[in-house]
Amino acid sequence: MSIERTVVLLKPDALQRDLLGHIITRFERKGLKLVGLKLAQPSGNVWDEHYSHHVEKPFYPGLKAFMMHGPLVAIALEGIGAINEVRKIVGATNPQEADAGTIRADFAMNIAANLIHASDGAETAANELKRFFQEEELFTYQKISDQYIVAN
Ligand code: CMP
Repeated sequence: MSIERTVVLLKPDALQRDLLGHIITRFERKGLKLVGLKLAQPSGNVWDEHYSHHVEKPFYPGLKAFMMHGPLVAIALEGIGAINEVRKIVGATNPQEADAGTIRADFAMNIAANLIHASDGAETAANELKRFFQEEELFTYQKISDQYIVAN
């Protein structure tokens, strides 16, 4: 398994409900490295592209309005097999079906306000990194805790 980067969006309901810290803590505790983090309020055309596979669905107008309700937090995470590891922590799309202990099961009650989006594969992760971050907003760094250890 190789080192990957993936995107999570803490949707406007996560910010409104003051859950940002609780959610970010779960990724930090797992050992995923934060390599990008910002508030953003993307416009409608970004959502038409991001959710292009859903635009014909009856729930899409509501989904788009929900994502544009207010600012969200875009995060890029890095780690070994990060795409799948993040999806395990996030849980199933429908919080009613998500396993206990996942973010969606623990903090959300319905599929429309499910708090968080995560890239679902290598290709979408690459597209979403480009969609939500400028190159200079993504960082490469070593953890200081790993850097200064000396074997003795
Ligand atoms: P997300 O992982 O962001 O991907 C697509 C989103 O569509 C999904 O999370 C849900 O928030 C939303 N969604 C999927 N199905 C429904 C539905 N039946 N009603 C409302 N929203 C939905």
